[in-house]
Amino acid sequence: MNVLLIGSGGREHALAWKLAASPLMTRLYCAPGNPGIAAEAACVALDPADHASVIAFCRVKAIDLVVVGPEAPLVAGLVDDLEAAGIKAFGPTKAAARLEGSKGFTKDLCRDAGIPTAAYASFTALAPAKAYVRAKGAPIVVKADGLAAGKGVVVAATVAEAEAALDHLFASAAPGEAAVVVEEFLDGEEASFFVLCDGTSALPLATAQDHKRAFDNDQGPNTGGMGAYSPAPVMTPAVVERTMAEIIRPTLRAMAEKGCPFKGILYAGLMVGSNGPKLIEYNVRFGDPECQVLMMRLVSDLLPALIAARDGTLNDVELRWYDDAALTVVLAARGYPGKAETGTVIAGLGTAAQGDPDVVVFHAGTAQRGDDIVAAGGRVLGVTAMAPTIAEAQAKAYRAVDRIDWPGGFCRRDIGWRAIARAG
Ligand code: AMP
Ligand code: GLY
Repeated sequence: MNVLLIGSGGREHALAWKLAASPLMTRLYCAPGNPGIAAEAACVALDPADHASVIAFCRVKAIDLVVVGPEAPLVAGLVDDLEAAGIKAFGPTKAAARLEGSKGFTKDLCRDAGIPTAAYASFTALAPAKAYVRAKGAPIVVKADGLAAGKGVVVAATVAEAEAALDHLFASAAPGEAAVVVEEFLDGEEASFFVLCDGTSALPLATAQDHKRAFDNDQGPNTGGMGAYSPAPVMTPAVVERTMAEIIRPTLRAMAEKGCPFKGILYAGLMVGSNGPKLIEYNVRFGDPECQVLMMRLVSDLLPALIAARDGTLNDVELRWYDDAALTVVLAARGYPGKAETGTVIAGLGTAAQGDPDVVVFHAGTAQRGDDIVAAGGRVLGVTAMAPTIAEAQAKAYRAVDRIDWPGGFCRRDIGWRAIARAG
């Protein structure tokens, strides 16, 4: 089969790495890709926002399946346009991608389907939003509606902090255009829960957790994710079953009833508290860096599973996982999640894994400059290792991190701490 993968991050490098190993693969292309992905796929300079060019490329190269990695092209309807042109595509339609694209849509769906989530209200004007915050008190959470890559959220410890966040959101939007969601603060432990969906059935993947804050001890601003590990001890079989019964299956039923059945990867950001799992938010794609640990642990061939999800035949699919744990440490450019310093040279990549097949350095924001690999984004590398326990995977990942010579970057030194503390 010929496959075109859309995207250029660590998630797509992990997907490319796994897809390239499929016995069914003939040619793997990636648009636009990155220097790490180039080792697994032919990178092509296509703009995923230019749907006509993507369709033309698929025709010329006889592409059998397009796998869309990031949310932006999904929300923009790339899957709809490909399918309308007779090209098979993995991922939700534009209407189904509203689960990520619009917090208001998801909150309304949760209310109508009785899905446990934080109480909330949405606002398009500043004064009523502030009045609501004052009435509810802190801690309270303020979010921008729409895509914000995990960065449009303020978990406010005080009413003043929440009001400042509202001022900022309304000041930076065009008049009448700001839509914000103010929601109840949920207490508990976060987990990232992924299910492969074919419109009606859902197949849970291995469990995972990421680290959203930029600095050690979960301090600093929210990021897209500074590291991840799998499995996530908080996701016990009982919590997984409750999540499927109370959150995932009702969502799939509601989406089908609305005429926009969900196909693709549904990513539930969960808060697991004393009353069980609650939905923080949905994403309509793999998490990054969670995808890196999941691909490392996946024994089965990914490609037939993606095809079955697209074809609506997921009931025939079973996925097997290594018992070993996997852990990813993200190396980010200094300044991230604010303005990241790019162009700095990264050395030592060739020897970081020391030939160990259970260590892979996935590329995210990298670029090739002559013979050098340089930083070209906020999150730059995902150093991923697999070992029998999370503690061993952590040690192995940091040994590889320490072989990378990149003064322009930084990482957290405590990825996996929660799971390691639990294991005692
Ligand atoms: P989101 O972009 O909605 O995933 O939010 C980013 C991060 O903010 C989440 O991963 C949580 O750490 C935190 N967060 C979001 N909503 C809540 C909430 N209602 N209660 C507590 N923390 C939250
Ligand atoms: N790691 C969180 C995300 O992909 O949104």
